[in-house]
Amino acid sequence: MAANLVSYFLFLLLFISNSRLLVRSTHIRCTATERRALTVLRQGLTDPSGRLTSWFGEDCCTWKGIECHNRTGRVTKLDLRNPYHIFNGDRTAYKSSCLGGKINQSLLQLEYLTYLDLSLNDFEGLEIPRFFGELNHLFYLNLSFASFSGEIPTSLGNLSKLEYLDLYADSFSSTGSWELRSQSLEWLTTLSSLKHLNLGFAKLNGVAEHWLHMLNMLPALVDLRLHWCELQGLPLTLPSINFTSLSVLDLSENSFNSLFPKWLFNLTGLTELYLTWDFFTGSIPADFANLKTLRVLDLSDNLNLEGQIPGFFANLSKLEFLDLSANNFHGDIYEFFNGFSSSTNNKLESLDLSSNSLIGELPDSLGSVKHLQHLDLSSNSFWGSIPSSIGRLSQLRKLDLSYNMMNGTIPESLGQLSRLVDMNLVANSWNGMLKEAHFMNLGKLEHVRLTTEPTRSLAIGVSDRWSPPFKLKTIQLENCMIGPLFPLWLQVQNQLTSVNLRNVGISDTIPGEWFSQVSDQVTYLVLSQNRIRGELPHQLSYPNLNVIDLSYNNFDGPFPSWSTNATDVLLQENSFSGPIPENIGALMPRLQKLYASRNHLSGRIPSSMCDIEGLNIVSLRNNMLSGQLPNCWHRSHVLWGIDISNNSLTGNIPSSFGFLSSLSVLLLSNNNLDGEIPPSLRNCSGLTSVDLGGNKISGTLPLWVQNLSSLFMLRLGSNLFSGNIPDAFCRLQNVHIFDLSGNKISGPIPTCIGNLAALVNGKGSEVFEGLIKVVTRGRDPEYSSVEANVNSIDLSGNQLSGEIPDEMTNLLALRILNLSHNHLSGAIPTSLASLAALIRLNLSYNNFSGSIPFIPKFNDSSIYEGNPLLCGTPLPTKCQLPI
Ligand SMILES: *[C@@H]1O[C@H](CO)[C@@H](O)[C@H](O)[C@H]1NC(C)=O
Ligand SMILES: *[C@@H]1O[C@H](CO)[C@@H](O)[C@H](O)[C@H]1NC(C)=O
Ligand SMILES: *[C@@H]1O[C@H](CO)[C@@H](O)[C@H](O)[C@H]1NC(C)=O
Ligand SMILES: *[C@@H]1O[C@H](CO)[C@@H](O)[C@H](O)[C@H]1NC(C)=O
Ligand SMILES: *[C@@H]1O[C@H](CO)[C@@H](O)[C@H](O)[C@H]1NC(C)=O
Ligand SMILES: *[C@@H]1O[C@H](CO)[C@@H](O)[C@H](O)[C@H]1NC(C)=O
Ligand SMILES: *[C@@H]1O[C@H](CO)[C@@H](O)[C@H](O)[C@H]1NC(C)=O
Ligand SMILES: *[C@@H]1O[C@H](CO)[C@@H](O)[C@H](O)[C@H]1NC(C)=O
Ligand SMILES: *[C@@H]1O[C@H](CO)[C@@H](O)[C@H](O)[C@H]1NC(C)=O
Ligand SMILES: *[C@@H]1O[C@H](CO)[C@@H](O)[C@H](O)[C@H]1NC(C)=O
Repeated sequence: MAANLVSYFLFLLLFISNSRLLVRSTHIRCTATERRALTVLRQGLTDPSGRLTSWFGEDCCTWKGIECHNRTGRVTKLDLRNPYHIFNGDRTAYKSSCLGGKINQSLLQLEYLTYLDLSLNDFEGLEIPRFFGELNHLFYLNLSFASFSGEIPTSLGNLSKLEYLDLYADSFSSTGSWELRSQSLEWLTTLSSLKHLNLGFAKLNGVAEHWLHMLNMLPALVDLRLHWCELQGLPLTLPSINFTSLSVLDLSENSFNSLFPKWLFNLTGLTELYLTWDFFTGSIPADFANLKTLRVLDLSDNLNLEGQIPGFFANLSKLEFLDLSANNFHGDIYEFFNGFSSSTNNKLESLDLSSNSLIGELPDSLGSVKHLQHLDLSSNSFWGSIPSSIGRLSQLRKLDLSYNMMNGTIPESLGQLSRLVDMNLVANSWNGMLKEAHFMNLGKLEHVRLTTEPTRSLAIGVSDRWSPPFKLKTIQLENCMIGPLFPLWLQVQNQLTSVNLRNVGISDTIPGEWFSQVSDQVTYLVLSQNRIRGELPHQLSYPNLNVIDLSYNNFDGPFPSWSTNATDVLLQENSFSGPIPENIGALMPRLQKLYASRNHLSGRIPSSMCDIEGLNIVSLRNNMLSGQLPNCWHRSHVLWGIDISNNSLTGNIPSSFGFLSSLSVLLLSNNNLDGEIPPSLRNCSGLTSVDLGGNKISGTLPLWVQNLSSLFMLRLGSNLFSGNIPDAFCRLQNVHIFDLSGNKISGPIPTCIGNLAALVNGKGSEVFEGLIKVVTRGRDPEYSSVEANVNSIDLSGNQLSGEIPDEMTNLLALRILNLSHNHLSGAIPTSLASLAALIRLNLSYNNFSGSIPFIPKFNDSSIYEGNPLLCGTPLPTKCQLPI
């Protein structure tokens, strides 16, 4: 018996060790049931890129994404996460790697499944299957970024072993925008093992205000993320705190609009706290100092946070990341930084105080925050100099002081920041001289942005042979003197992709070698407002150049057309000459804005321009262009600004302009255009500014202008128009500049002229002036003639007869009125005196009669001369006293 027992045990031992051996040598195969279950699951799924092609053969444990228990061979893990991420990398690869379709209930046959990850797929709005609640061994469930939608099944509350639940809703799927919802969080209260919960973007706006109490019942919770859940209220108090293990809390973008709740400060284990965009009111409570383990504190975009930034942040000795940007903090930051100078073991690595209303000088104690890698103080109102203690921030990689009122100097110690990669100091009012020492150890510097006001004096004064330690990718230096020669330190920068050297005092020629070195990679090139001369190297092509601004220099030679990817080409005020290339449409197919005014361009405007569908603005004023305008425009064009004034264009205004429904600004003055205005222009109902003055355009004034309800400026002066001023013109509700001077227009001034609403109330000209400015680039004197003529009527030099209608005195906003050189008669209405805004008046050379009304501001005789029947001051002719 005993022997039997012994041999039985021996047998058992042998059996067990054998079967173990078996496991090691042959791999246990998965059970047939589970293999079938997986095959059925696969049949329900769509798999465009064939990620599941390995799912065949006997041993399902070797299939991709499957893991089995190493002894029992039961499937424990199903990881079908898309290997490509939706937000980075290859979008097409991501899309084709998405699994979709249906999830078959056969999944339930994987009885020992502990891990299920379906994230980053696209189930196109499928509801989360209710039966997931029966996978009761699950400790990990990840359905994030998978386009599930609808009510979250409460059956998930049965997964009592669940530790990780991630339902972060991908609302940016390629197939639509799906969202998950939950009416109540009651189902969560039974998940007593839950450590990580992410319900980001799930709609929880229906849950009652005690939602937090539900979560407070989860004693194991470590990481809680409820970003953008439309949660309504945040309770200010809790009777007791159960989720004391909480380490990460993300309640950002819920717009709670309340005070900071007190219980927050009992979560003394918090390491990361995100409260962005939640509108907490008042200043930041000092209770934050309790949260000693905090590493990340993000209170950005709270808008209601105000007051001075308190000093106790330095007590948060573990804090690494602090973002208080986009709030209403004001006052100085002395107290804030002084805290850090007494707390020498602070760990702060990233500090963002941008977009507040902070003022004052930057304190010396800035240098005490010695682990800082990222410092952003932009968009405040700091002034003064950068303290030299900045040189102690030896870890600093990114420094942003842009958009402040810094009116002092930049210290040499900046040159000690050997890890600095990105320095942005634009939009300040810097002063002083930058020397070699300022850049001494900046070997990692890649991006430099430094601009000052044109009135300030900031210069880079380094020796001619200085060889800088950096290779820049971005350089932006505006109003900062580096000329007159192209400095050598710049010519050795051959990694540049973005160059902006506006107004830096260079009067050299372009160094050809440098230009050819950067030609491949540069995308943005601004050299405007220098005195750079000579021709551009033509043999080069700049395949990636998008924006090229050479305006206001002394460049000459032919029109530069060597960039096939150019969208914005600015050449105005140079001496480029010769024709615009006939094939510009093929050379620059992506062109959107072409500015080339004030050059010596000649020849005709090529009709291949019509091949450039994205063209927005063509500004060619003051050249010597001739011939007819191309007449090949069509509906798909988006052209909205044309300025080809002061050239020698001939022929008619193209009728195909009528297809440009986006056309807003059309300036063709001072050419030799003739014929009538094409009636098709009535379709350009978005026209705001039209200047056809100084041509030979004839015919009667078109009635259809009344359709152009946005018209702000109408200039038809110095042409051959004839006939009457039609009443239709009085319907131009928005017209502020109205010029029909120097034509052959006859008949009376219509009495309805008092209906020109914009000249009655004077409102709303800025937007339209702005549009003209965009097309003419503002600096041109032509633009100032617009600005100076807002609220004017010029009917001079015609054959108008009759009296000045009384209704004219409705035009209370009228500033300039010129009726000279007509055949107007009758008395000058005394009521003109009531036009308070009127500053210039000309009634000379008409047939007015009687005594001149007394209007003190119009006491210059030239206003009235050439009217033989007028008398009284300021004319020398005395009126006969009535008897
Ligand atoms: C089997 O899995 C357990 C736990 O998952 C592990 O500790 C053990 O080393 C594994 N055994 C083998 C032979 O891989
Ligand atoms: C699951 O698969 C079985 C077998 O292919 C099929 O009959 C059933 O309709 C599927 N269920 C769902 C919900 O697709
Ligand atoms: C869930 O999956 C997403 C995307 O694959 C991942 O970023 C996230 O960290 C996962 N969640 C958890 C809790 O592991
Ligand atoms: C949870 O499981 C129990 C028992 O298995 C079941 O009766 C109940 O319906 C389940 N609850 C949900 C919400 O599915
Ligand atoms: C905290 O947990 C205890 C025990 O788990 C429970 O009785 C109590 O209701 C919980 N408190 C809150 C506020 O949820
Ligand atoms: C928070 O902590 C304070 C003392 O540190 C204690 O008096 C208070 O009761 C705690 N609040 C909760 C809700 O636990
Ligand atoms: C911060 O620490 C200092 C020095 O340890 C202490 O005097 C001060 O009260 C603390 N501030 C807060 C708000 O806890
Ligand atoms: C800088 O600006 C501040 C605040 O406007 C002003 O008080 C100070 O005098 C200015 N300093 C210099 C050098 O212009
Ligand atoms: C235009 O730029 C794109 C990327 O912005 C680039 O892929 C393309 O090659 C460029 N075109 C040419 C003609 O070089
Ligand atoms: C027209 O252009 C010529 C040179 O092209 C220039 O001299 C003249 O001033 C311009 N006229 C106006 C009104 O801008």
